[in-house]
Amino acid sequence: MKRIGMLTSGGDCQALNAAMRGVVKTLTHSGEDVEVYGFQDGYKGLIYCNFQILTGRDFSGILTKGGTMLGTSRTPFKLLDEPTPEGLNKVEEMKRNYAKLGLDCLVILGGNGTHKTANRLQEEGLNVVTLPKTIDNDLWGTDMTFGFQSAVDIATNAIDCIHTTASSHGRVFIVEVMGHKVGWLTLNAGMAGGADIILIPEIPYDIKKVIDKIEERDKNGSRFTIIAVAEGAISKEDAKLSKKDYKKKVEKRKVSVSYEIAEEIFKRTGREVRVTVPGHMQRGGSPCPYDRVFASRLGAEAGKLILEGKYGFMVGYKNREIVRVSLEDVAGKLKYVDPDARIIQEAKLLGISFGD
Ligand code: F6P
Repeated sequence: MKRIGMLTSGGDCQALNAAMRGVVKTLTHSGEDVEVYGFQDGYKGLIYCNFQILTGRDFSGILTKGGTMLGTSRTPFKLLDEPTPEGLNKVEEMKRNYAKLGLDCLVILGGNGTHKTANRLQEEGLNVVTLPKTIDNDLWGTDMTFGFQSAVDIATNAIDCIHTTASSHGRVFIVEVMGHKVGWLTLNAGMAGGADIILIPEIPYDIKKVIDKIEERDKNGSRFTIIAVAEGAISKEDAKLSKKDYKKKVEKRKVSVSYEIAEEIFKRTGREVRVTVPGHMQRGGSPCPYDRVFASRLGAEAGKLILEGKYGFMVGYKNREIVRVSLEDVAGKLKYVDPDARIIQEAKLLGISFGD
């Protein structure tokens, strides 16, 4: 009998259910008797011992369902050593509940912050296997995270819709795509949707270069311009500020960077600019077929790790293969878009401006 604790932490994404199903199906299919302790709302459930016991049957029929059947919440890593409002030591409570329930291991699905905590639990002696989720695709140690391709589809669809109305009206349109720290989603959706300008956090922009591109398109007879802007896009000027000063500026701004860019374009060119923010839609709905397959494969490998009694790994994807990556290597590292990457060079060859 294997007793597995399972939780999903951080912002949700598509294919969380598909990944959990993959783990449990692999275990039950091997003939192993499995009891899953599904912790409610992420690490919170483990801290407060809030769980439901699930069996293989509970994981049937969830392959195509978005969200997470376990619920999720954020438990910031930087606050991990601060007590709960009731004065509980979070790490000690998680260790205590793990031991009390007689768990063989924890299966943790999450992004960057989640992996820091997972690694901490591993260091504290718990058996942990993790799976990489996030629409941001910013987790180090894996070429891809599940949720990413589904979000690319949704953000691309938003750009596609904007394209038709932008061409009718001859306007400049900004589509703001999720991603505060990294630009994978904006880059991919931007290219897939035929954006003319793509602004991502890793390549600070110069507003003059953005306007140059709009004017170049005007001269060439294109009536409209589509700009895909990541939530975390930053101007060259702002990139020079200290982290603290930039944070202060963002807090003061109250609106997102896209509105600042829109205002600047209007002020300098008099052109009509509209901003569209698909927001959390990008994390919602049913996982795309790619993510269903991908998350199932990752889940199967996690199940295999558990059957082999091997812990301390994130199941990732490298060079088109499912791989096991040591948790301590993953924790605390982000995977950024390299401004010199081939994909950026190729996008530039196509005439896409990054405002640099
Ligand atoms: O980490 C995924 C992500 O979707 C980011 O792209 C986005 O900036 C953030 O979460 C939004 O978080 P919240 O759900 O807390 O609004």
